[in-house]
Amino acid sequence: MNKTLPTLKSNRLLIRPINHNDCYDMYEYAKKDNVGPNAGWSPHKSLDETKNIIMNMINETLADNNIGVFSLVFKENMKMIGTIGLHNYHEKNASASLGYVLSPDYWGRGLMVEAVKTIITFAFDELSIYRLECSHYDFNQQSKRVIEKVGFVFEGISRKNKVLLNGNRCDTQF
Ligand SMILES: CC(C)(COP(=O)(O)OP(=O)(O)OC[C@H]1O[C@@H](n2cnc3c(N)ncnc32)[C@H](O)[C@@H]1OP(=O)(O)O)[C@@H](O)C(=O)NCCC(=O)NCCS
Repeated sequence: MNKTLPTLKSNRLLIRPINHNDCYDMYEYAKKDNVGPNAGWSPHKSLDETKNIIMNMINETLADNNIGVFSLVFKENMKMIGTIGLHNYHEKNASASLGYVLSPDYWGRGLMVEAVKTIITFAFDELSIYRLECSHYDFNQQSKRVIEKVGFVFEGISRKNKVLLNGNRCDTQF
């Protein structure tokens, strides 16, 4: 595997490796209450927290069992509006999992479907991934729709396998 992630393009997006300057745009959406908790992380409390998180993402790129995080840049205004990441890479099994987040200002336009399709092609064609996984909390209907629309096949439910930030347990569908 190459030591750097490439820049990919879709119709409306540039999908490029995350960088430190993305902290301002990321903080703008990551501090909102309706973003992180749907994906398992707390809203960011400060710009410094966002900077640290991005630093970790950069340090973990192509390290251990990680492939890395791409930023989604909306071509129309060149704003960084979300991320998509390939994680849990297992070389022998040629498997990985996918995670993504989009700024609420851009929800409902099919942008994540566009990004995920581009990453799926990259993962299969360039990384020779054989099995790609994506899961969502049972209440996250928006993510469920993205997963359905890009063509993932439903395999099952892990019952009460996640403890949410509020302490409640929920099912995960994958
Ligand atoms: C999940 C997420 C990436 C979806 O991105 P998106 O680009 O808006 O996806 P789509 O435009 O394809 O919309 C998906 C569904 O969300 C619903 N939706 C769209 N905009 C919405 C809004 N503003 N409020 C509530 N639901 C909305 C629609 O019902 C749509 O389904 P449909 O195609 O059947 O009409 C985005 O909601 C998000 O970042 N959420 C927070 C983080 C998260 O949940 N990450 C995934 C963890 S598994």
